[in-house]
Amino acid sequence: MKSSMDVPNYKKIEGKVAIVTGGASGIGEATARLFAKHGARAVVIADIQDNLGKNIAVSIGLDRCTYIHCDVTDESQVKSLVDSTVAIYGQLDIMFSNAGIASKCVQTVFDFDMEQFDRLFAVNVRGMAVCVKHAARAMVELKVKGDIICTASVFARKGVAQRTDYCMSKHAVVALMKSASKQLGQYGIRVNCVSPYAVATPLMCNMLEKDVAEVEKLHEQMTCLKNMVLKAEDVAEAVLFLVGEKSGFITGHDLVIDGGYTNI
Ligand SMILES: NC(=O)c1ccc[n+]([C@@H]2O[C@H](COP(=O)([O-])OP(=O)(O)OC[C@H]3O[C@@H](n4cnc5c(N)ncnc54)[C@H](O)[C@@H]3O)[C@@H](O)[C@H]2O)c1
Repeated sequence: MKSSMDVPNYKKIEGKVAIVTGGASGIGEATARLFAKHGARAVVIADIQDNLGKNIAVSIGLDRCTYIHCDVTDESQVKSLVDSTVAIYGQLDIMFSNAGIASKCVQTVFDFDMEQFDRLFAVNVRGMAVCVKHAARAMVELKVKGDIICTASVFARKGVAQRTDYCMSKHAVVALMKSASKQLGQYGIRVNCVSPYAVATPLMCNMLEKDVAEVEKLHEQMTCLKNMVLKAEDVAEAVLFLVGEKSGFITGHDLVIDGGYTNI
């Protein structure tokens, strides 16, 4: 029998078929690249930034990466994404539900902008829910003991001075993950979250109106690990761990990647 010790370090998810939502940028892009590097048979990048997404698929290699336009706020597009993946590759092993946005205004309880609030919830909460729903249905139908990972945030563990809508949405993601892990464990499907601290992706840079160097400088003294910067690739490694065999008994877990920030 093949033991997990026999799996080479560089092929942790050999032969698996993965969907990565929000895969055209930031954490999603880094994860799509890492999945391909670790032997995924196919990585499907799902996003609304078509040019970026297509270029990443080309750079990974069209033999094992596809871009599919999918707005996660539209359930029919998410269903079609899952159906197309299964039709093309005959399988779905991994759903990395990662697409997310931040509102433009700071959204304290005094100045909630309900239009922006609704838009954010449509992506960060409703979008996550439909991705989990359709991935779970497909995995059960295919009898696949798959993995579902959602991207939450360190702000799923704390209250915030501003950006209340974002904080609320990420608490909801953790609740979704915990509920889904209870409901899907009987099928052998594991459901977990990653909760990153600040990464200087376009989401974070646009939100703070700063460039990458400024965002990294701003955050590097705020965790227990001084002068260290969290990169999208570090988050991708945590996702890879959660979908690999070495985390086989882990489900219902929110893996915080924060240099101890939430302890402070
Ligand atoms: N960057 C951080 O500091 C940080 C920290 C904690 C959590 N997160 C979370 O990480 C996830 C990825 O964000 P990122 O930082 O890589 O940002 P990013 O902006 O680089 O990537 C987000 C991707 O999601 C896509 N997207 C947005 N709306 C979509 C929709 N309706 N349908 C499909 N795709 C959509 C965007 O086009 C983009 O490609 C988000 O859920 C975010 O909330 C980020």
